[in-house]
Amino acid sequence: MAKIVNSWNDWDPLKRVIVGRCDNSVIPPEEPATSEKVPVDSEMRGMWGLRPLATVERGNECLENLVKAVEDRGVVVDRPTPLQWNQAIGTPDFRNDSMMTCMPPRDILLTIGNEIMASANSFRCRYFEYLAYWPLMKQYFDEDPEFLWTQAPRPRLTDASYKHNYYDEKITLEERLVRTANKDFVTTEVEPMWDAADVMRMGKDLFIQHGLTTNRTAMEWFQRYYPELRVHAMNFPGDPYPIHIDATFVPLRPGLIINNPNRHPAEGQLAIFEANDWQVVDAAQPAHTEPPALCYSSVWLSMNCLVLDPSTVIVEASEVNQQEQMDKLGMNVIPVDLRDAYPFGGGLHCSTADVYREGGCEDYFP
Ligand code: ARG
Repeated sequence: MAKIVNSWNDWDPLKRVIVGRCDNSVIPPEEPATSEKVPVDSEMRGMWGLRPLATVERGNECLENLVKAVEDRGVVVDRPTPLQWNQAIGTPDFRNDSMMTCMPPRDILLTIGNEIMASANSFRCRYFEYLAYWPLMKQYFDEDPEFLWTQAPRPRLTDASYKHNYYDEKITLEERLVRTANKDFVTTEVEPMWDAADVMRMGKDLFIQHGLTTNRTAMEWFQRYYPELRVHAMNFPGDPYPIHIDATFVPLRPGLIINNPNRHPAEGQLAIFEANDWQVVDAAQPAHTEPPALCYSSVWLSMNCLVLDPSTVIVEASEVNQQEQMDKLGMNVIPVDLRDAYPFGGGLHCSTADVYREGGCEDYFP
């Protein structure tokens, strides 16, 4: 029996990873949490259903590029088992006309040490997404006697979990930014809700973005669940759609973080990094002025890189500015063509979930 699951941060040498799949991906129907996510001028407003097959095939090709790049470096790759995502779902508390996808895994699975926990997502369409990963979880469970297979408390996602008509159709970008600055989000605090991609792991410290997908009750829940870790809430007032921390505040190695220049942390939240001599540098400008078609995310997926070890990073092949900056920061850069997977939920970091990185739980902020 071997040790299969172990990861405490995003930079220690990567040995085993899950890479998502685009099969059967759906643009989900609007629901209380997601209508707030899709920008008013997006071509995706009001449309939902299976994504066009050609885009699914192209997205999968991109993910294969990533699989090959990491396998070439000796990393073991595991893949989820997609469901028929365009099925209607229901629980005693809600019905939804469809699910979404098993991209990206980073939103669903949180690896902390020898534990992988399925998250408590606030989108109803993602309620059953964890099922795509259950065959892998069972395999790890059978093969690694120390693996902890965990499901976070499932949110009920009744109407009480959301503020209704919170943003009307005419809300301006400025108003959105005021809401972000006031830490005033679409989710309520009736139960813990969180996406795994809002949690940045740094050994003894968890930095968790408080935004549209993760609430304060979740932070409190994390602190009680992991009493030996320190939980820090982070807010990024410059982000009108604060969802997932990995295109905003991205560690490359101990002591170095790249920060989205439009999304600096709220007052006082950098203090712990400064006090420990961490360098927080503005990320390079994205190479693109627009995201690809039918994409939820912003052009800042440019900085959504996958660190293979403290001196090696995978950056999207067209993101030349980000590659150049990484090079100057002393990283060896491996370009991988992944842009056509962006519409399925994210870039290189999003498209993966950690299974095994070398190293243990260090205290980087003593
Ligand atoms: N909210 C980010 C942006 O648009 C995208 C983050 C995607 N990350 C993820 N894990 N799905 O800039």
